[in-house]
Amino acid sequence: MPFAHITGWGMYVPEPVLTNDDIAKLVDTNDEWIRDRTGIRERHIAREHEFPSTLAVEASIKALRVANLAPTELDLIICASSSPEYIFPATACLIQDQIGATKAGAFDLSAACTGFVYAINMAAQAIRSGSIKNALVIGTETLSRFVDWKDRNTCILFGDGAGAFVLQASEKPGGVLSAVMRSDGSGADSLTLLGGGSRHPASEATIHEGKHFVQMDGKEVFRFATRVMGRATLEALELAGMTTDDVKCIVPHQANYRIIETAAKYLKLSMDKFVVNVDRYGNTSTASIPIATVEAAQDGRVMPGDKVVFVAFGAGLTWGAMVVEWTGPIPTKKHVHPEQYRIIARLRSFVRRAIRFIEGFLSRKEL
Ligand SMILES: CC(C)(COP(=O)(O)OP(=O)(O)OC[C@H]1O[C@@H](n2cnc3c(N)ncnc32)[C@H](O)[C@@H]1OP(=O)(O)O)[C@@H](O)C(=O)NCCC(=O)NCCS
Repeated sequence: MPFAHITGWGMYVPEPVLTNDDIAKLVDTNDEWIRDRTGIRERHIAREHEFPSTLAVEASIKALRVANLAPTELDLIICASSSPEYIFPATACLIQDQIGATKAGAFDLSAACTGFVYAINMAAQAIRSGSIKNALVIGTETLSRFVDWKDRNTCILFGDGAGAFVLQASEKPGGVLSAVMRSDGSGADSLTLLGGGSRHPASEATIHEGKHFVQMDGKEVFRFATRVMGRATLEALELAGMTTDDVKCIVPHQANYRIIETAAKYLKLSMDKFVVNVDRYGNTSTASIPIATVEAAQDGRVMPGDKVVFVAFGAGLTWGAMVVEWTGPIPTKKHVHPEQYRIIARLRSFVRRAIRFIEGFLSRKEL
């Protein structure tokens, strides 16, 4: 049975930075309060022309470059997002078209901030089953578009960005070693974005009632997160036959410094064992784990052979954890430039649209 290795990684955040002082100009809050309660100092906010797919494409090209893999070799793209571009088509398909992944299946996965852990596990299982060889898994968000900038309970928390991993099959043991995925829909109402779905289609009333914004019971989510983070970590470690002593570091979902601190206390670990960058990005939902991991890999904090835990929680309620052995690119003589496929992809997309238009025109004439 092949193993599913993480062979490439990339991240991208939009340039504009919104500091706590900037937010204090919008709502009644201040830098000290936000830092004390959340650990967040600043977050990146997407510009008008940036969307989950465009952020994801930047992160994906970087991940493919690290893996030295052409987009045309991808079999599957899974995009986890809490702020997808549309209800449909899937953001994953927009990414597939823009990077030129000509033979990949593509779909979105909705498990809120736990989405990236779920998606890595789904891609790994597809590789382990032998049905695919190469997968691209993305977490991408422009949650700033769904935040009520008049609500100080939520607008301080979220940021935009994207992260991507390439997963590849190899007979060599390693890669994704274990995973747990959990949910509890009885807590569905503690973190919601209700408007725009089929229960509350967009209308004047839904806009008036603020249903198109993130709504959250902060205390309830805080309690839930601190309950599940440590437990899920231990469950994933047990499945892999390991303890926290075997692990180089833990990359938790970056929602709140205090939540991570509580998990560290529960696990009787020092905070040094946790990768934390919530101070610079805020909560980027599905993108937070890959962004933190990419930074850790770039800093040399995560090296090939290291065992790493990813642990996340989010709306749903959902939570999950996994243990991976970090790999890095599979050695090969070929040298691939994934960014060059973007130009061809744009041309290909244009030609396919033109063909569809002509076909449509001709078939209308025939009818
Ligand atoms: C949102 C969160 C930071 C609030 O912190 P808290 O310690 O629970 O704060 P509370 O909601 O109890 O509010 C305490 C006081 O601060 C006020 N307050 C709330 N937000 C504030 C802000 N941004 N600035 C200043 N004061 C604020 C409240 O109105 C309240 O005032 P009161 O005591 O006069 O009523 C915290 O609950 C949290 O991080 N929860 C988890 C959220 C999360 O991670 N969501 C994403 C999950 S994927």
